[in-house]
Amino acid sequence: MIFHTPVMAEKCISYLNLRAGKIYVDATTGGGGHSLAMLKSEPSIRLYCFDQDMEAIEEASKKLSNYENVELIKANFQQLRTELAYRKVKGIDGILFDLGVSSHQLNNENRGFSFEKDAPLDMRMDSSQEYSAYDAVNELDAKELARIFRDYGEELNAFRIAKAIERSPKPVNTTGELTRIIESVVGKGTKASLKTKVRIFQALRIYVNKELEVLASTLKDAINLLNPKGRIVVLSYHSLEDRIVKQEFKRAEQECICPPRSLACNCNHHKQLVILTSKPITASEEEILANPRSRSAKLRAAEKVKEENKEEKTYRKSNRQKTQEEKCVAKS
Ligand SMILES: C[S@@+](CC[C@H](N)C(=O)[O-])C[C@H]1O[C@@H](n2cnc3c(N)ncnc32)[C@H](O)[C@@H]1O
Repeated sequence: MIFHTPVMAEKCISYLNLRAGKIYVDATTGGGGHSLAMLKSEPSIRLYCFDQDMEAIEEASKKLSNYENVELIKANFQQLRTELAYRKVKGIDGILFDLGVSSHQLNNENRGFSFEKDAPLDMRMDSSQEYSAYDAVNELDAKELARIFRDYGEELNAFRIAKAIERSPKPVNTTGELTRIIESVVGKGTKASLKTKVRIFQALRIYVNKELEVLASTLKDAINLLNPKGRIVVLSYHSLEDRIVKQEFKRAEQECICPPRSLACNCNHHKQLVILTSKPITASEEEILANPRSRSAKLRAAEKVKEENKEEKTYRKSNRQKTQEEKCVAKS
């Protein structure tokens, strides 16, 4: 069975603008599809491939075994800075994030990610993590479960489903048992009930793996690590993920993040990125037909700009102060 089909691979490669001999990171290597495409496109790069799932690392190491210039790192991408520092990598020339879950994780009978396969309630991407979907479903109260279903799944029946789980006379052990509880609330066999199951399972997965919690801080780290002209490319599959990516890119694009009316700039922020995709790029109709998973994908890309030197920074700050003072005089 195919481990995972990489989404918008050509577009990712084109936005990464790979340059010979430079250093790149695939933060979510999965089955190694995008990593392989990167190496095929520019074989002389040095590539660091991260994934928190050991099965992904094993699959990617097979797929990339012909290349010596690759290192596979079994770690959460939250550890990006630490893991690269440990390898004495001070800066990188490009990084790809292909967020979310792989087809392998969804299709694997034992991982408990999908309501279509009866399996123990698990959903951990990193199997060495202790907390699983079983703990979430059986330990959280209905209010907190409903919040998760609403916030991460945008599910309208969140509270009724959470209450039905809480009322269960015995622990909910399997995906099949959870599915039957959801069906007891929204029925079965309809398009609407299918969508509810997708949303509830997705929400639990996002919560168990803290997918949104680690994203913003990792994007900041990745942007800081980029060398001038280095590129960051992110594929997201969920509106909340995409919102975080958009916000972090916007923030890094600004010269200054002081409140608009402050006279002097004291934020110490500086412009780091130029955004290359004013709107997110989506998959073509052909790709969506061939790989339905690509339907919800949104690609955003940006390029690191040269850091300001001391004189440029002082000049920009004094210029801002002058403009603000002129505004005040004009108002008075
Ligand atoms: C969509 S798949 C990537 C597929 C890959 N691009 C390919 O071509 O095969 C996402 C992968 O990211 C991994 N992942 C998700 N969140 C992660 C995180 N915080 N740290 C490390 N890996 C993560 C998952 O385990 C999964 O293997």
